[in-house]
Amino acid sequence: MTALAINGLSKVYDNGNQALSDISLQIPQGSFYALLGPNGAGKSTLINILADTVLASRGAVSLFGHDLLAERSWCKRRIGVVPQEVAFDPFFTPREVLAFTSGLFGCKPDFDWIDELLTRLELIDHSGKNTRQLSGGMRRRLLVAQALVHKPKLVILDEPTAGVDVELRKRLWDFMRELNAAGTTILLTTHYLDEAEELCDHVAIIDRGKLLTARPMGEMMREIASSYLWLHYGKAPVLTDAASEQLAAFEPRLSEHGICLKLGKQEGGSTFHQAYQAAVTCFGAPLDAGMRREKLEDVFLRLTGKQASRKTDAGDDHASD
Ligand SMILES: Nc1ncnc2c1ncn2[C@@H]1O[C@H](COP(=O)(O)OP(=O)(O)O)[C@@H](O)[C@H]1O
Ligand SMILES: [Mg+2]
Repeated sequence: MTALAINGLSKVYDNGNQALSDISLQIPQGSFYALLGPNGAGKSTLINILADTVLASRGAVSLFGHDLLAERSWCKRRIGVVPQEVAFDPFFTPREVLAFTSGLFGCKPDFDWIDELLTRLELIDHSGKNTRQLSGGMRRRLLVAQALVHKPKLVILDEPTAGVDVELRKRLWDFMRELNAAGTTILLTTHYLDEAEELCDHVAIIDRGKLLTARPMGEMMREIASSYLWLHYGKAPVLTDAASEQLAAFEPRLSEHGICLKLGKQEGGSTFHQAYQAAVTCFGAPLDAGMRREKLEDVFLRLTGKQASRKTDAGDDHASD
């Protein structure tokens, strides 16, 4: 079943900025879905449309078969959104913020669940402070707690870990993994592509408002990611015209100590054997050899031409501990 169906979504802001162009995406129920793209790609615009804080110019979205606009209150109770921007009323404590948010979703505050959220998100020791006394990383975690307070079936996180240090980030992902294992569908944007690759079972990449690819993570890494064979000769092999011709299909790259060959795909595997044989024919047996498979980060760079730029992770987390 599809949790979220996005059909032909476009957004042109009042100033003429086209942030999204005809995006269609299906987010399967129970998936852990990564929405990736360089800065300015349109990720937050898409998420803000889902959160009902930005109005789409065209297209439709449905949640478990219910139209997002026509059945707004039904949908609202089933979505939890962590926006990229943090804004709280500074005069409330985290516990009050969460109790108040429950009310907004039409639920009575469930203080056991609120305490569990505060504990899991490591805010429990700060739950009596005013939100203005919290560091940036803590406020971001409070936003996550706020999005989870009504136990939504779909959780959408817009860069939840910007400004959150490595250890906390790991524990936050562990928590998200548990929610996902218990059946919650999760849609997430992040600049940490190694984490996305590990966590997520689906991935979509957008750039300049357009969808570049959307597929299961395994398929993406199998079909889009390339593999390389490097051969170590202890010195740079001499690439004669004949060797160049023989290796052309493998796009050879020489280095100081050897050569790197790009492997093609063939039924059931790669052209590893052909590449190895060709290298041995040209240069003899190597001293050592190895394979390297592209990571999600490499695929992202190749598809968008841009690095998944990272916000500083110099966790401002302890600023006011
Ligand atoms: N309120 C706005 N008014 C006009 N343009 C906007 C507004 N918000 C975002 N944009 C523009 O829309 C594009 C997509 O932005 P955004 O959705 O924030 O991208 P991302 O989250 O992927 O970095 C950018 O060119 C951005 O400048
Ligand atoms: Mg954004």
